[in-house]
Amino acid sequence: MILEEGLQSPTRIRQAAEIIARGGIVAFPTETVYGLGANAFNPLAVARIFDVKKRPYFDPLIVHIAHPADLDKIVLDIPPEAGKLMGRFWPGPLTLVLPKRQEVPDLVTAGLPTVAVRMPSHAVALELIELAGCPVAAPSANPFGYLSPTTAQHVREQLGNEVDLILDGGPCAVGVESTILSFSGKRPRLLRPGGVSLEEIESIIGKVETAPVKTQRPSAPGMLARHYAPRTPIVLDWRDKDLHSHEGKKIGLLAFQEPVNCLAFDHVEVLSKKGDFREAAANLFAAIRRLDAANLDMILAEAVPEVGLGRAIMDRLRRASHKEESDS
Ligand code: TXA
Ligand code: MG
Repeated sequence: MILEEGLQSPTRIRQAAEIIARGGIVAFPTETVYGLGANAFNPLAVARIFDVKKRPYFDPLIVHIAHPADLDKIVLDIPPEAGKLMGRFWPGPLTLVLPKRQEVPDLVTAGLPTVAVRMPSHAVALELIELAGCPVAAPSANPFGYLSPTTAQHVREQLGNEVDLILDGGPCAVGVESTILSFSGKRPRLLRPGGVSLEEIESIIGKVETAPVKTQRPSAPGMLARHYAPRTPIVLDWRDKDLHSHEGKKIGLLAFQEPVNCLAFDHVEVLSKKGDFREAAANLFAAIRRLDAANLDMILAEAVPEVGLGRAIMDRLRRASHKEESDS
């Protein structure tokens, strides 16, 4: 059979689903980033994900489902506001944190009484979960603390030898991870800005909490100060006049729109010539990876306006540019 570019053959999806059903781990495309999936009800398979990613066990995973009805196997209760958001944004880049059923292994939720769930919209992901016949626990398919993969090639480069199979569904359309909204407190709380904007969420359920809760451990390590980071230092707060002090160094520019002056830079990546947030988000991680591969001393990143998807983009840039090491 002839495959359209970027589409995965049904046979290979079936093969991937069998691997998951038998306790293996598979990298697969979603509309946000590539995930590394295992049967959520198989703690041994889930443990292998932590191992391969070198991810600390305190960092819980998102459980992916193919039908809203599958929620009943995972969560105890669906608050009405969560139901409204599912109706509007599922399938899609919105993860809801809800009270978990006892059957969900503690390893998946890092011992929390809640579980993060989402129904992705990528056709390959939906088919994979459906055929596997179980909810699929999956973090992003990258080593812990590094940038999330937005192509199958990114996964091959970093985890190629350690996973049982990689499904190629082409480049991810959204390009930043899902928005995480928690229903564990009195009011819904934004834990991570992502593919569905805060404005879109608030247009459905009204104001949500956005201030981080002060706890001993991060409620979402995607919220660790340093995360989503390349090896080359990224600098976010800089002025044109600072460039002189870096003379002799190889400097890259991560520009939001077409930059005014490229001459001072050894490598320039433009996220969206026309300044479109969707296009910029879709290009973000691949652009940073190209800059990271260009042997630069430093990457200067341009700030983007913090509205809509710009909030998720700035969140990732801040964490990528944070100087301290992550807890990884
Ligand atoms: O778009 C996405 O969400 C991608 C694709 C593969 O679905 N997945 C993803 O997973 O970004 P990961 O593991 O890289 O990030 C999941 C985040 C982590 O920061 C984790 O701490 C948080 O979700 N999380 C998971 N369960 C949670 C819970 N019960 N309470 C609070 N945060 C939770
Ligand atoms: Mg991740």
